[in-house]
Amino acid sequence: MDKIQINGGKKLYGEVTISGAKNAALPLIASAILVNGKTSFSNVPDLMDIKSIKLLLEDLGATCKSSNGYLEVDGSNIHKIEAEYDLVRKMRASILVLGPLVARFGHAKVSMPGGCAIGARPVNMHLSGLEALGAEISMDHGYIEAKANRLVGNEIYFDTPTVTGTENLMMAASLAKGTSILRNAAREPEIVSLADALNKMGAQIHGAGTAIITIEGVKSLSSSSEITIIPDRIETGTFMVAAAATGGDVFIKNCEPDHLSSIINKLKATGAEIRTYQNAIRVTGKECIHSVDIKTVPYPGFPTDMQAQFMALMTIADGNSVIHESIFENRFIHANELLRLGADISISNGNLAMVRGVKKLQGAPVMASDLRASASLVIAGLVAEGTTAISRVYHMDRGYEAIEKKFSQLDADIIRIK
Ligand code: EPZ
Repeated sequence: MDKIQINGGKKLYGEVTISGAKNAALPLIASAILVNGKTSFSNVPDLMDIKSIKLLLEDLGATCKSSNGYLEVDGSNIHKIEAEYDLVRKMRASILVLGPLVARFGHAKVSMPGGCAIGARPVNMHLSGLEALGAEISMDHGYIEAKANRLVGNEIYFDTPTVTGTENLMMAASLAKGTSILRNAAREPEIVSLADALNKMGAQIHGAGTAIITIEGVKSLSSSSEITIIPDRIETGTFMVAAAATGGDVFIKNCEPDHLSSIINKLKATGAEIRTYQNAIRVTGKECIHSVDIKTVPYPGFPTDMQAQFMALMTIADGNSVIHESIFENRFIHANELLRLGADISISNGNLAMVRGVKKLQGAPVMASDLRASASLVIAGLVAEGTTAISRVYHMDRGYEAIEKKFSQLDADIIRIK
């Protein structure tokens, strides 16, 4: 298994280009199942999770042709409605094929996505939403089975905003008979990008990006070309925090500042200098990093996917900061690894972390546990004195394209050891 080795203490300088967003690409690629024809995408990131969903679609009978950032999916020959355990267990987001399959074929069998390191990750809201649309849901030896002659529009209320739940049901409702309304819907930019793409294919979706999304069902969707994947706001935030942590000066290109207002706001409060441009952000770190408190909440609040990275920054801040993780029940695993680097963190009742800033972190061998935790360890390694070796970097490869190359282009002393 690969490792990433970092010799810390260097400021990051230079320019970095952000890749397409993993969490925008996954639902968009799944939406190609809805079309009896070809759908093509550009600015697709080269990630393990993208490979996984292409394998899943090919297993269903779709054909995927990709070359440097372009992907064409042909859904006309899909002949299988079962997403197998072996493929689903590699990536929970495979649940995103459930809505499209039952909407287009009236039948779907998807292996229950297990939990993961950060939490149980139930899909009850996905299933109750499909039932509201008239699907008959049953469980069969670890598989979710959904059946419906034709889905029928209805009102669906989410107890809490769910990103993939909103995406799954928006896709399913696109082909339902009549009107659906999703209430308390997730408002992430990835939801808007999916609705825009579905509307390009002939869907009638209004209100994406707000808490109430209305979908007028249509009979079928048609091929669409050149759906561009939006920039990855979490990759952008990761480089912003790394620039602030190292006291460097980084110009981040190909990003969408509008998607990052909560992170910009918090980083400014730590004392970093942030300048925003049309599709770029410049972050200039300062010697002194002020402690600030954060609470992760649904978009447009501070994203849970940035919590681990921000915690790494707070470990070397000038005071104490309280981090409240309100989305997932076990998303502080990175804290134990940060302690190995000399951080001073205490966790109380599972979702509150008190981070007491220390002068210096010391490099050490650490282990990545999930995608964003691994980013947190890279940031800590960049500022720690000495060498940090991060194992299990396959977690990183799921969501960050060539991360060590991008950081070494910013003058970091970072290498991947095969
Ligand atoms: C999406 O996961 C993202 N993944 C996650 O990013 C992200 O952390 C999360 O949204 C929250 O922003 C993709 O988009 C592929 P949720 P998702 O449904 O949709 C509970 C990363 O690092 N819930 O919004 O699975 C759930 O347990 C990944 O890229 C239910 O209880 O998250 C959680 O507490 C990690 N029942 C909360 O809602 C349900 O049916 C929000 O989860 C669904 C969710």
